[in-house]
Amino acid sequence: MADTKDATSSNQMWGGRFASGPDAIMEEINASIGFDKKLYAQDIRGSIAHATMLAEKGIISREDKDKIVEGLNTILSEIESGKFEFSRKLEDIHMNIEARLATLIGPAAGRLHTARSRNDQVALDFRLWVKEELAKTEVMLTALIAAFLDRAEEHAETVMPGFTHLQTAQPVTFGHHCMAYVEMFGRDRARVRHAIDHLDESPIGAAALAGTGFPIDRHMTAKALGFREPTRNSIDTVSDRDFALEFLSVASICAVHLSRLAEEIVIWSTPQFGFVRLSDAFSTGSSIMPQKKNPDAAELVRAKTGRINGSLVALLTIMKGLPLAYSKDMQEDKEQVFDAAENLELAIAAMTGMMRDMTIRVDRMRAAAGSGYSTATDLADWLVREAGLPFRDAHHATGHAVALAEKKGCELAELSLDDLQAINPAITEKVFDVLTVDASVASRQSFGGTAPSEVRKQIAYWRSRN
Ligand code: ARG
Repeated sequence: MADTKDATSSNQMWGGRFASGPDAIMEEINASIGFDKKLYAQDIRGSIAHATMLAEKGIISREDKDKIVEGLNTILSEIESGKFEFSRKLEDIHMNIEARLATLIGPAAGRLHTARSRNDQVALDFRLWVKEELAKTEVMLTALIAAFLDRAEEHAETVMPGFTHLQTAQPVTFGHHCMAYVEMFGRDRARVRHAIDHLDESPIGAAALAGTGFPIDRHMTAKALGFREPTRNSIDTVSDRDFALEFLSVASICAVHLSRLAEEIVIWSTPQFGFVRLSDAFSTGSSIMPQKKNPDAAELVRAKTGRINGSLVALLTIMKGLPLAYSKDMQEDKEQVFDAAENLELAIAAMTGMMRDMTIRVDRMRAAAGSGYSTATDLADWLVREAGLPFRDAHHATGHAVALAEKKGCELAELSLDDLQAINPAITEKVFDVLTVDASVASRQSFGGTAPSEVRKQIAYWRSRN
């Protein structure tokens, strides 16, 4: 291990009471610049708002403010054009930018940090970043919902088996199944909006933890940075990472929805199910088995869910034992959020593409919808409605009919009238009207039910809110 301890390398920001620089390992564990450089734009925006307010309140001079703002804008273009040299010795994005500012404008740079601490600075930068990411997620979810609405409209009448326990339950339409995902992603989007609303308070001005004696105006900076209002407790402000946790919980729930969809696509695209054919754009072949087309994108979305959920658990665990207010543990919040955000974006984009591209095999869905005695409930309901049987007795009689069909190796609709009348004499020819999948599906017009007429109503409802 190289010994870097010498008096000359003590930190230029807080080096006043330190005689020597950090040990190399200390530098490595302490530095966050490797990942928090992602916050450069938010850091610069925050500093400009802060400096402007300081000048406005007469805390720094207008000339110093102008130099600071100009210097910060130069740094912004240096970073964006890849010319900026990040240094691990300067720990994090805040100190990297401030050190560069000092080189660019001299002593005026030292006035920027008046009435501020890295604690409220990082809380601000990270909040701004998460807020922007949530806004991006909202837009992406809207595109995903639109893809589902289009498929639902196209397949409002396409029958497929509905499952419980992954056993054939009752026929539904593919449009109805798509609309189930619209509800799920619609709730995710509502959670995203709530999360934006919750975090919409500006932390800057909380300073280290106790506020400041300088006559700052936190309402002014809040407004300049697009926040609804400033936070109300300076201790909470620098110790709070709820906004990051909320982002991760919203992301985790959404990822779970994406993963369930991914799992269905994996199942549907097997030759055994054959409900969908994936486009070449979202599948891969096998290097050894020429017949294969693998749903890799869906599988990876399923896997990324583990990673996103892991980030939530990681940050919850990082935060759980921390005394108020700031502790350096909180520096570990960013990588979890950045990784989850990147992977959630990928997962949503992949699923949007897959849903739009895949071929729905209407014939295969229809064949499966009619098998497995999927209309047994319709027979029982018919006996209740037309023959006046109590539902429990109708259920029992239908059970006999299913057993008989099973013995004969046929579907319910293929039993003869004689067969059915032997089970219950009240059964007439008319029963065959409800034993087809189309009749079954069309009859389920209850609010939110699978009948094409009802599904179209729900599509119209969602179109008007998308
Ligand atoms: N890099 C730090 C972080 O991400 C910034 C805040 C440091 N504050 C401090 N008092 N050391 O949390």
